[in-house]
Amino acid sequence: MKKDPHSYYEPGQPKTENLSWTILSFDFEKKSLHGKALYAFDGSGETNFDTRELEIIRVGDSEGEAIPFELAEHHAVKGSRLTFTVPANREVEIEYRTTPPASGLQWMSAELAGGHPFVYTQGQTTNARSYIPCQDTPSIKFPFEASLTVPAELRGLVAAAEHVGRVENQDGSATESWNMPYPIASYLLAFAVGDLVSEDISDRSRVWAQPPMIQAAAQEFKDIPLLMEAGEKLFGPYPFGRYDVLVMPSAFPYGGMENPCLTFVTPALVAGDGSGIGVIAHELAHSWTGNLVTNSDWDGFWLNEGWTTWAEGRILEVVYGKDHAMLHQKLLESEFLIDCAHFAAEGNPHYMKLTPGAHDVDPDEIFSRVPYFKGSQFVRLLEETVGRERFDAFVGSYIDAHKYQSIDTDTLLAFIETELGKEVLDTVRAHDWVHGHGIPDNQPPIETALIDQVRELAQVTELPGEDAAWSNPQWQLYLELLPRPLSPEFVADLERRFSLSQIPNVEVKWSFLVASAQAGHVDLYPAVESFLRTQGRIKYLKPLYEALASTEQGSEHATRIFSDAKGNYHPAAISAVERTLK
Ligand code: BES
Ligand code: ZN
Repeated sequence: MKKDPHSYYEPGQPKTENLSWTILSFDFEKKSLHGKALYAFDGSGETNFDTRELEIIRVGDSEGEAIPFELAEHHAVKGSRLTFTVPANREVEIEYRTTPPASGLQWMSAELAGGHPFVYTQGQTTNARSYIPCQDTPSIKFPFEASLTVPAELRGLVAAAEHVGRVENQDGSATESWNMPYPIASYLLAFAVGDLVSEDISDRSRVWAQPPMIQAAAQEFKDIPLLMEAGEKLFGPYPFGRYDVLVMPSAFPYGGMENPCLTFVTPALVAGDGSGIGVIAHELAHSWTGNLVTNSDWDGFWLNEGWTTWAEGRILEVVYGKDHAMLHQKLLESEFLIDCAHFAAEGNPHYMKLTPGAHDVDPDEIFSRVPYFKGSQFVRLLEETVGRERFDAFVGSYIDAHKYQSIDTDTLLAFIETELGKEVLDTVRAHDWVHGHGIPDNQPPIETALIDQVRELAQVTELPGEDAAWSNPQWQLYLELLPRPLSPEFVADLERRFSLSQIPNVEVKWSFLVASAQAGHVDLYPAVESFLRTQGRIKYLKPLYEALASTEQGSEHATRIFSDAKGNYHPAAISAVERTLK
């Protein structure tokens, strides 16, 4: 086992084999939770845990005897090392409290969350250590059980396969218990507490949301059983029992997060046109590529995201056809190209590598579409090189051979060599893909008639006819492909003819607002402002703030809106926008 540069855990030390996690109370006023965690280890002796801005109240053995511990000073990227000795019976209990700056928690007041308070976790990438002391490296996996004591008017959901039960207590609280028999990595430890209701969509899948959203959400995601069937045909039996989806408040900083058995998604997906299902296909695909076969450290992030983007494409192809899948890939390419332009401009071309080796930076800070797009194009290339039939058999054995384990890029390459032969690695030029900066010139083409239809008009900066029967992703691609900056007049024409700033599909609306802010089209400033105040997804916020700040007049606006709206954003979104505005 290799050392994970983002964790204090040292290979060879006792590692967690099981966790029993108890959250005794949530204090919404103080933005703090009080918890206890009992760990079972695979051995005894000195070991290291990761913590970040946690108050460690006590470390003890299972008999109640205190165990001495040392909490080292805070490190900006890794947090504080917690060191103690695991006794002979291999059990240790830690009592702790979180603090308000916890990078992995968002506490929302009743006002902000729509009537009732809400709190939830976001563990990926290295933020679990801010809400539970743990060996916060994806190279260690363990099953767990959890119990959450929440205000009785709220539900306490855990990303786990079994809801054991809910007990109403005397004091106006309720305790919800969950069990997760499958081993998972710490970044997937997740819960959400809020006013939540659910609707079943099959016997192993339900959608959770705040009450006003539940009908629309269940409708939007009704194809989940089809996606699951497709996933199982391609990648083997669904490995985690249930697959549920939780629609988060709009401050949720990602499109989706593959918390095991309970994907968290932004409410922006609930657009009424079924377009949000692509993100679900992606998060569901992580059940195999990511949650079952996991990168062993964050240098291997592409093993999670590249494979999953490829797998998402295969699921979409089965359920909605190849054209649809290609259109998705094309949209991802345009996000990727923008990220690469940024990395090049900042003098960070090494972040365009599949394995960037960025050991001294917070992985969240260099988040980009490189691992997603470049990684999935590499996997597509392998597939096209050996042929689908042979590749699918390979994928089956890759997943089966590494299930419930964590691997690095070399392990994958060695597995390809044994299963498919060294000549395949040479033919695709695997070394260039893995270690090179840009995208090698042998990447598979991304083509369909749906793309051609919009590309032609975008190139000549022509408005589509009123009768253009484009799908929302086609509209989005058209907007992405138009040469920037657009003239304010062109933006005004688009708005007059198609009212794109009012469209319910958030992706299209966002692409249009970015283009209009770049164009310095002041008429749409109010629409831009209201978008920035009501959405929390980093993917939307960063480019829109950047576009607004790119003109002199917009720049002041951007700063003012951010300082006002920032209280509604997740800690990861705040840092991301701060970096952008700098
Ligand atoms: N695991 C990611 C989200 C993530 C990555 C959170 C890194 C924190 C750090 C999730 O699976 C994801 O990729 N979401 C995408 C969805 C899209 C590619 C369909 C997103 O949120 O944009
Ligand atoms: Zn993903």
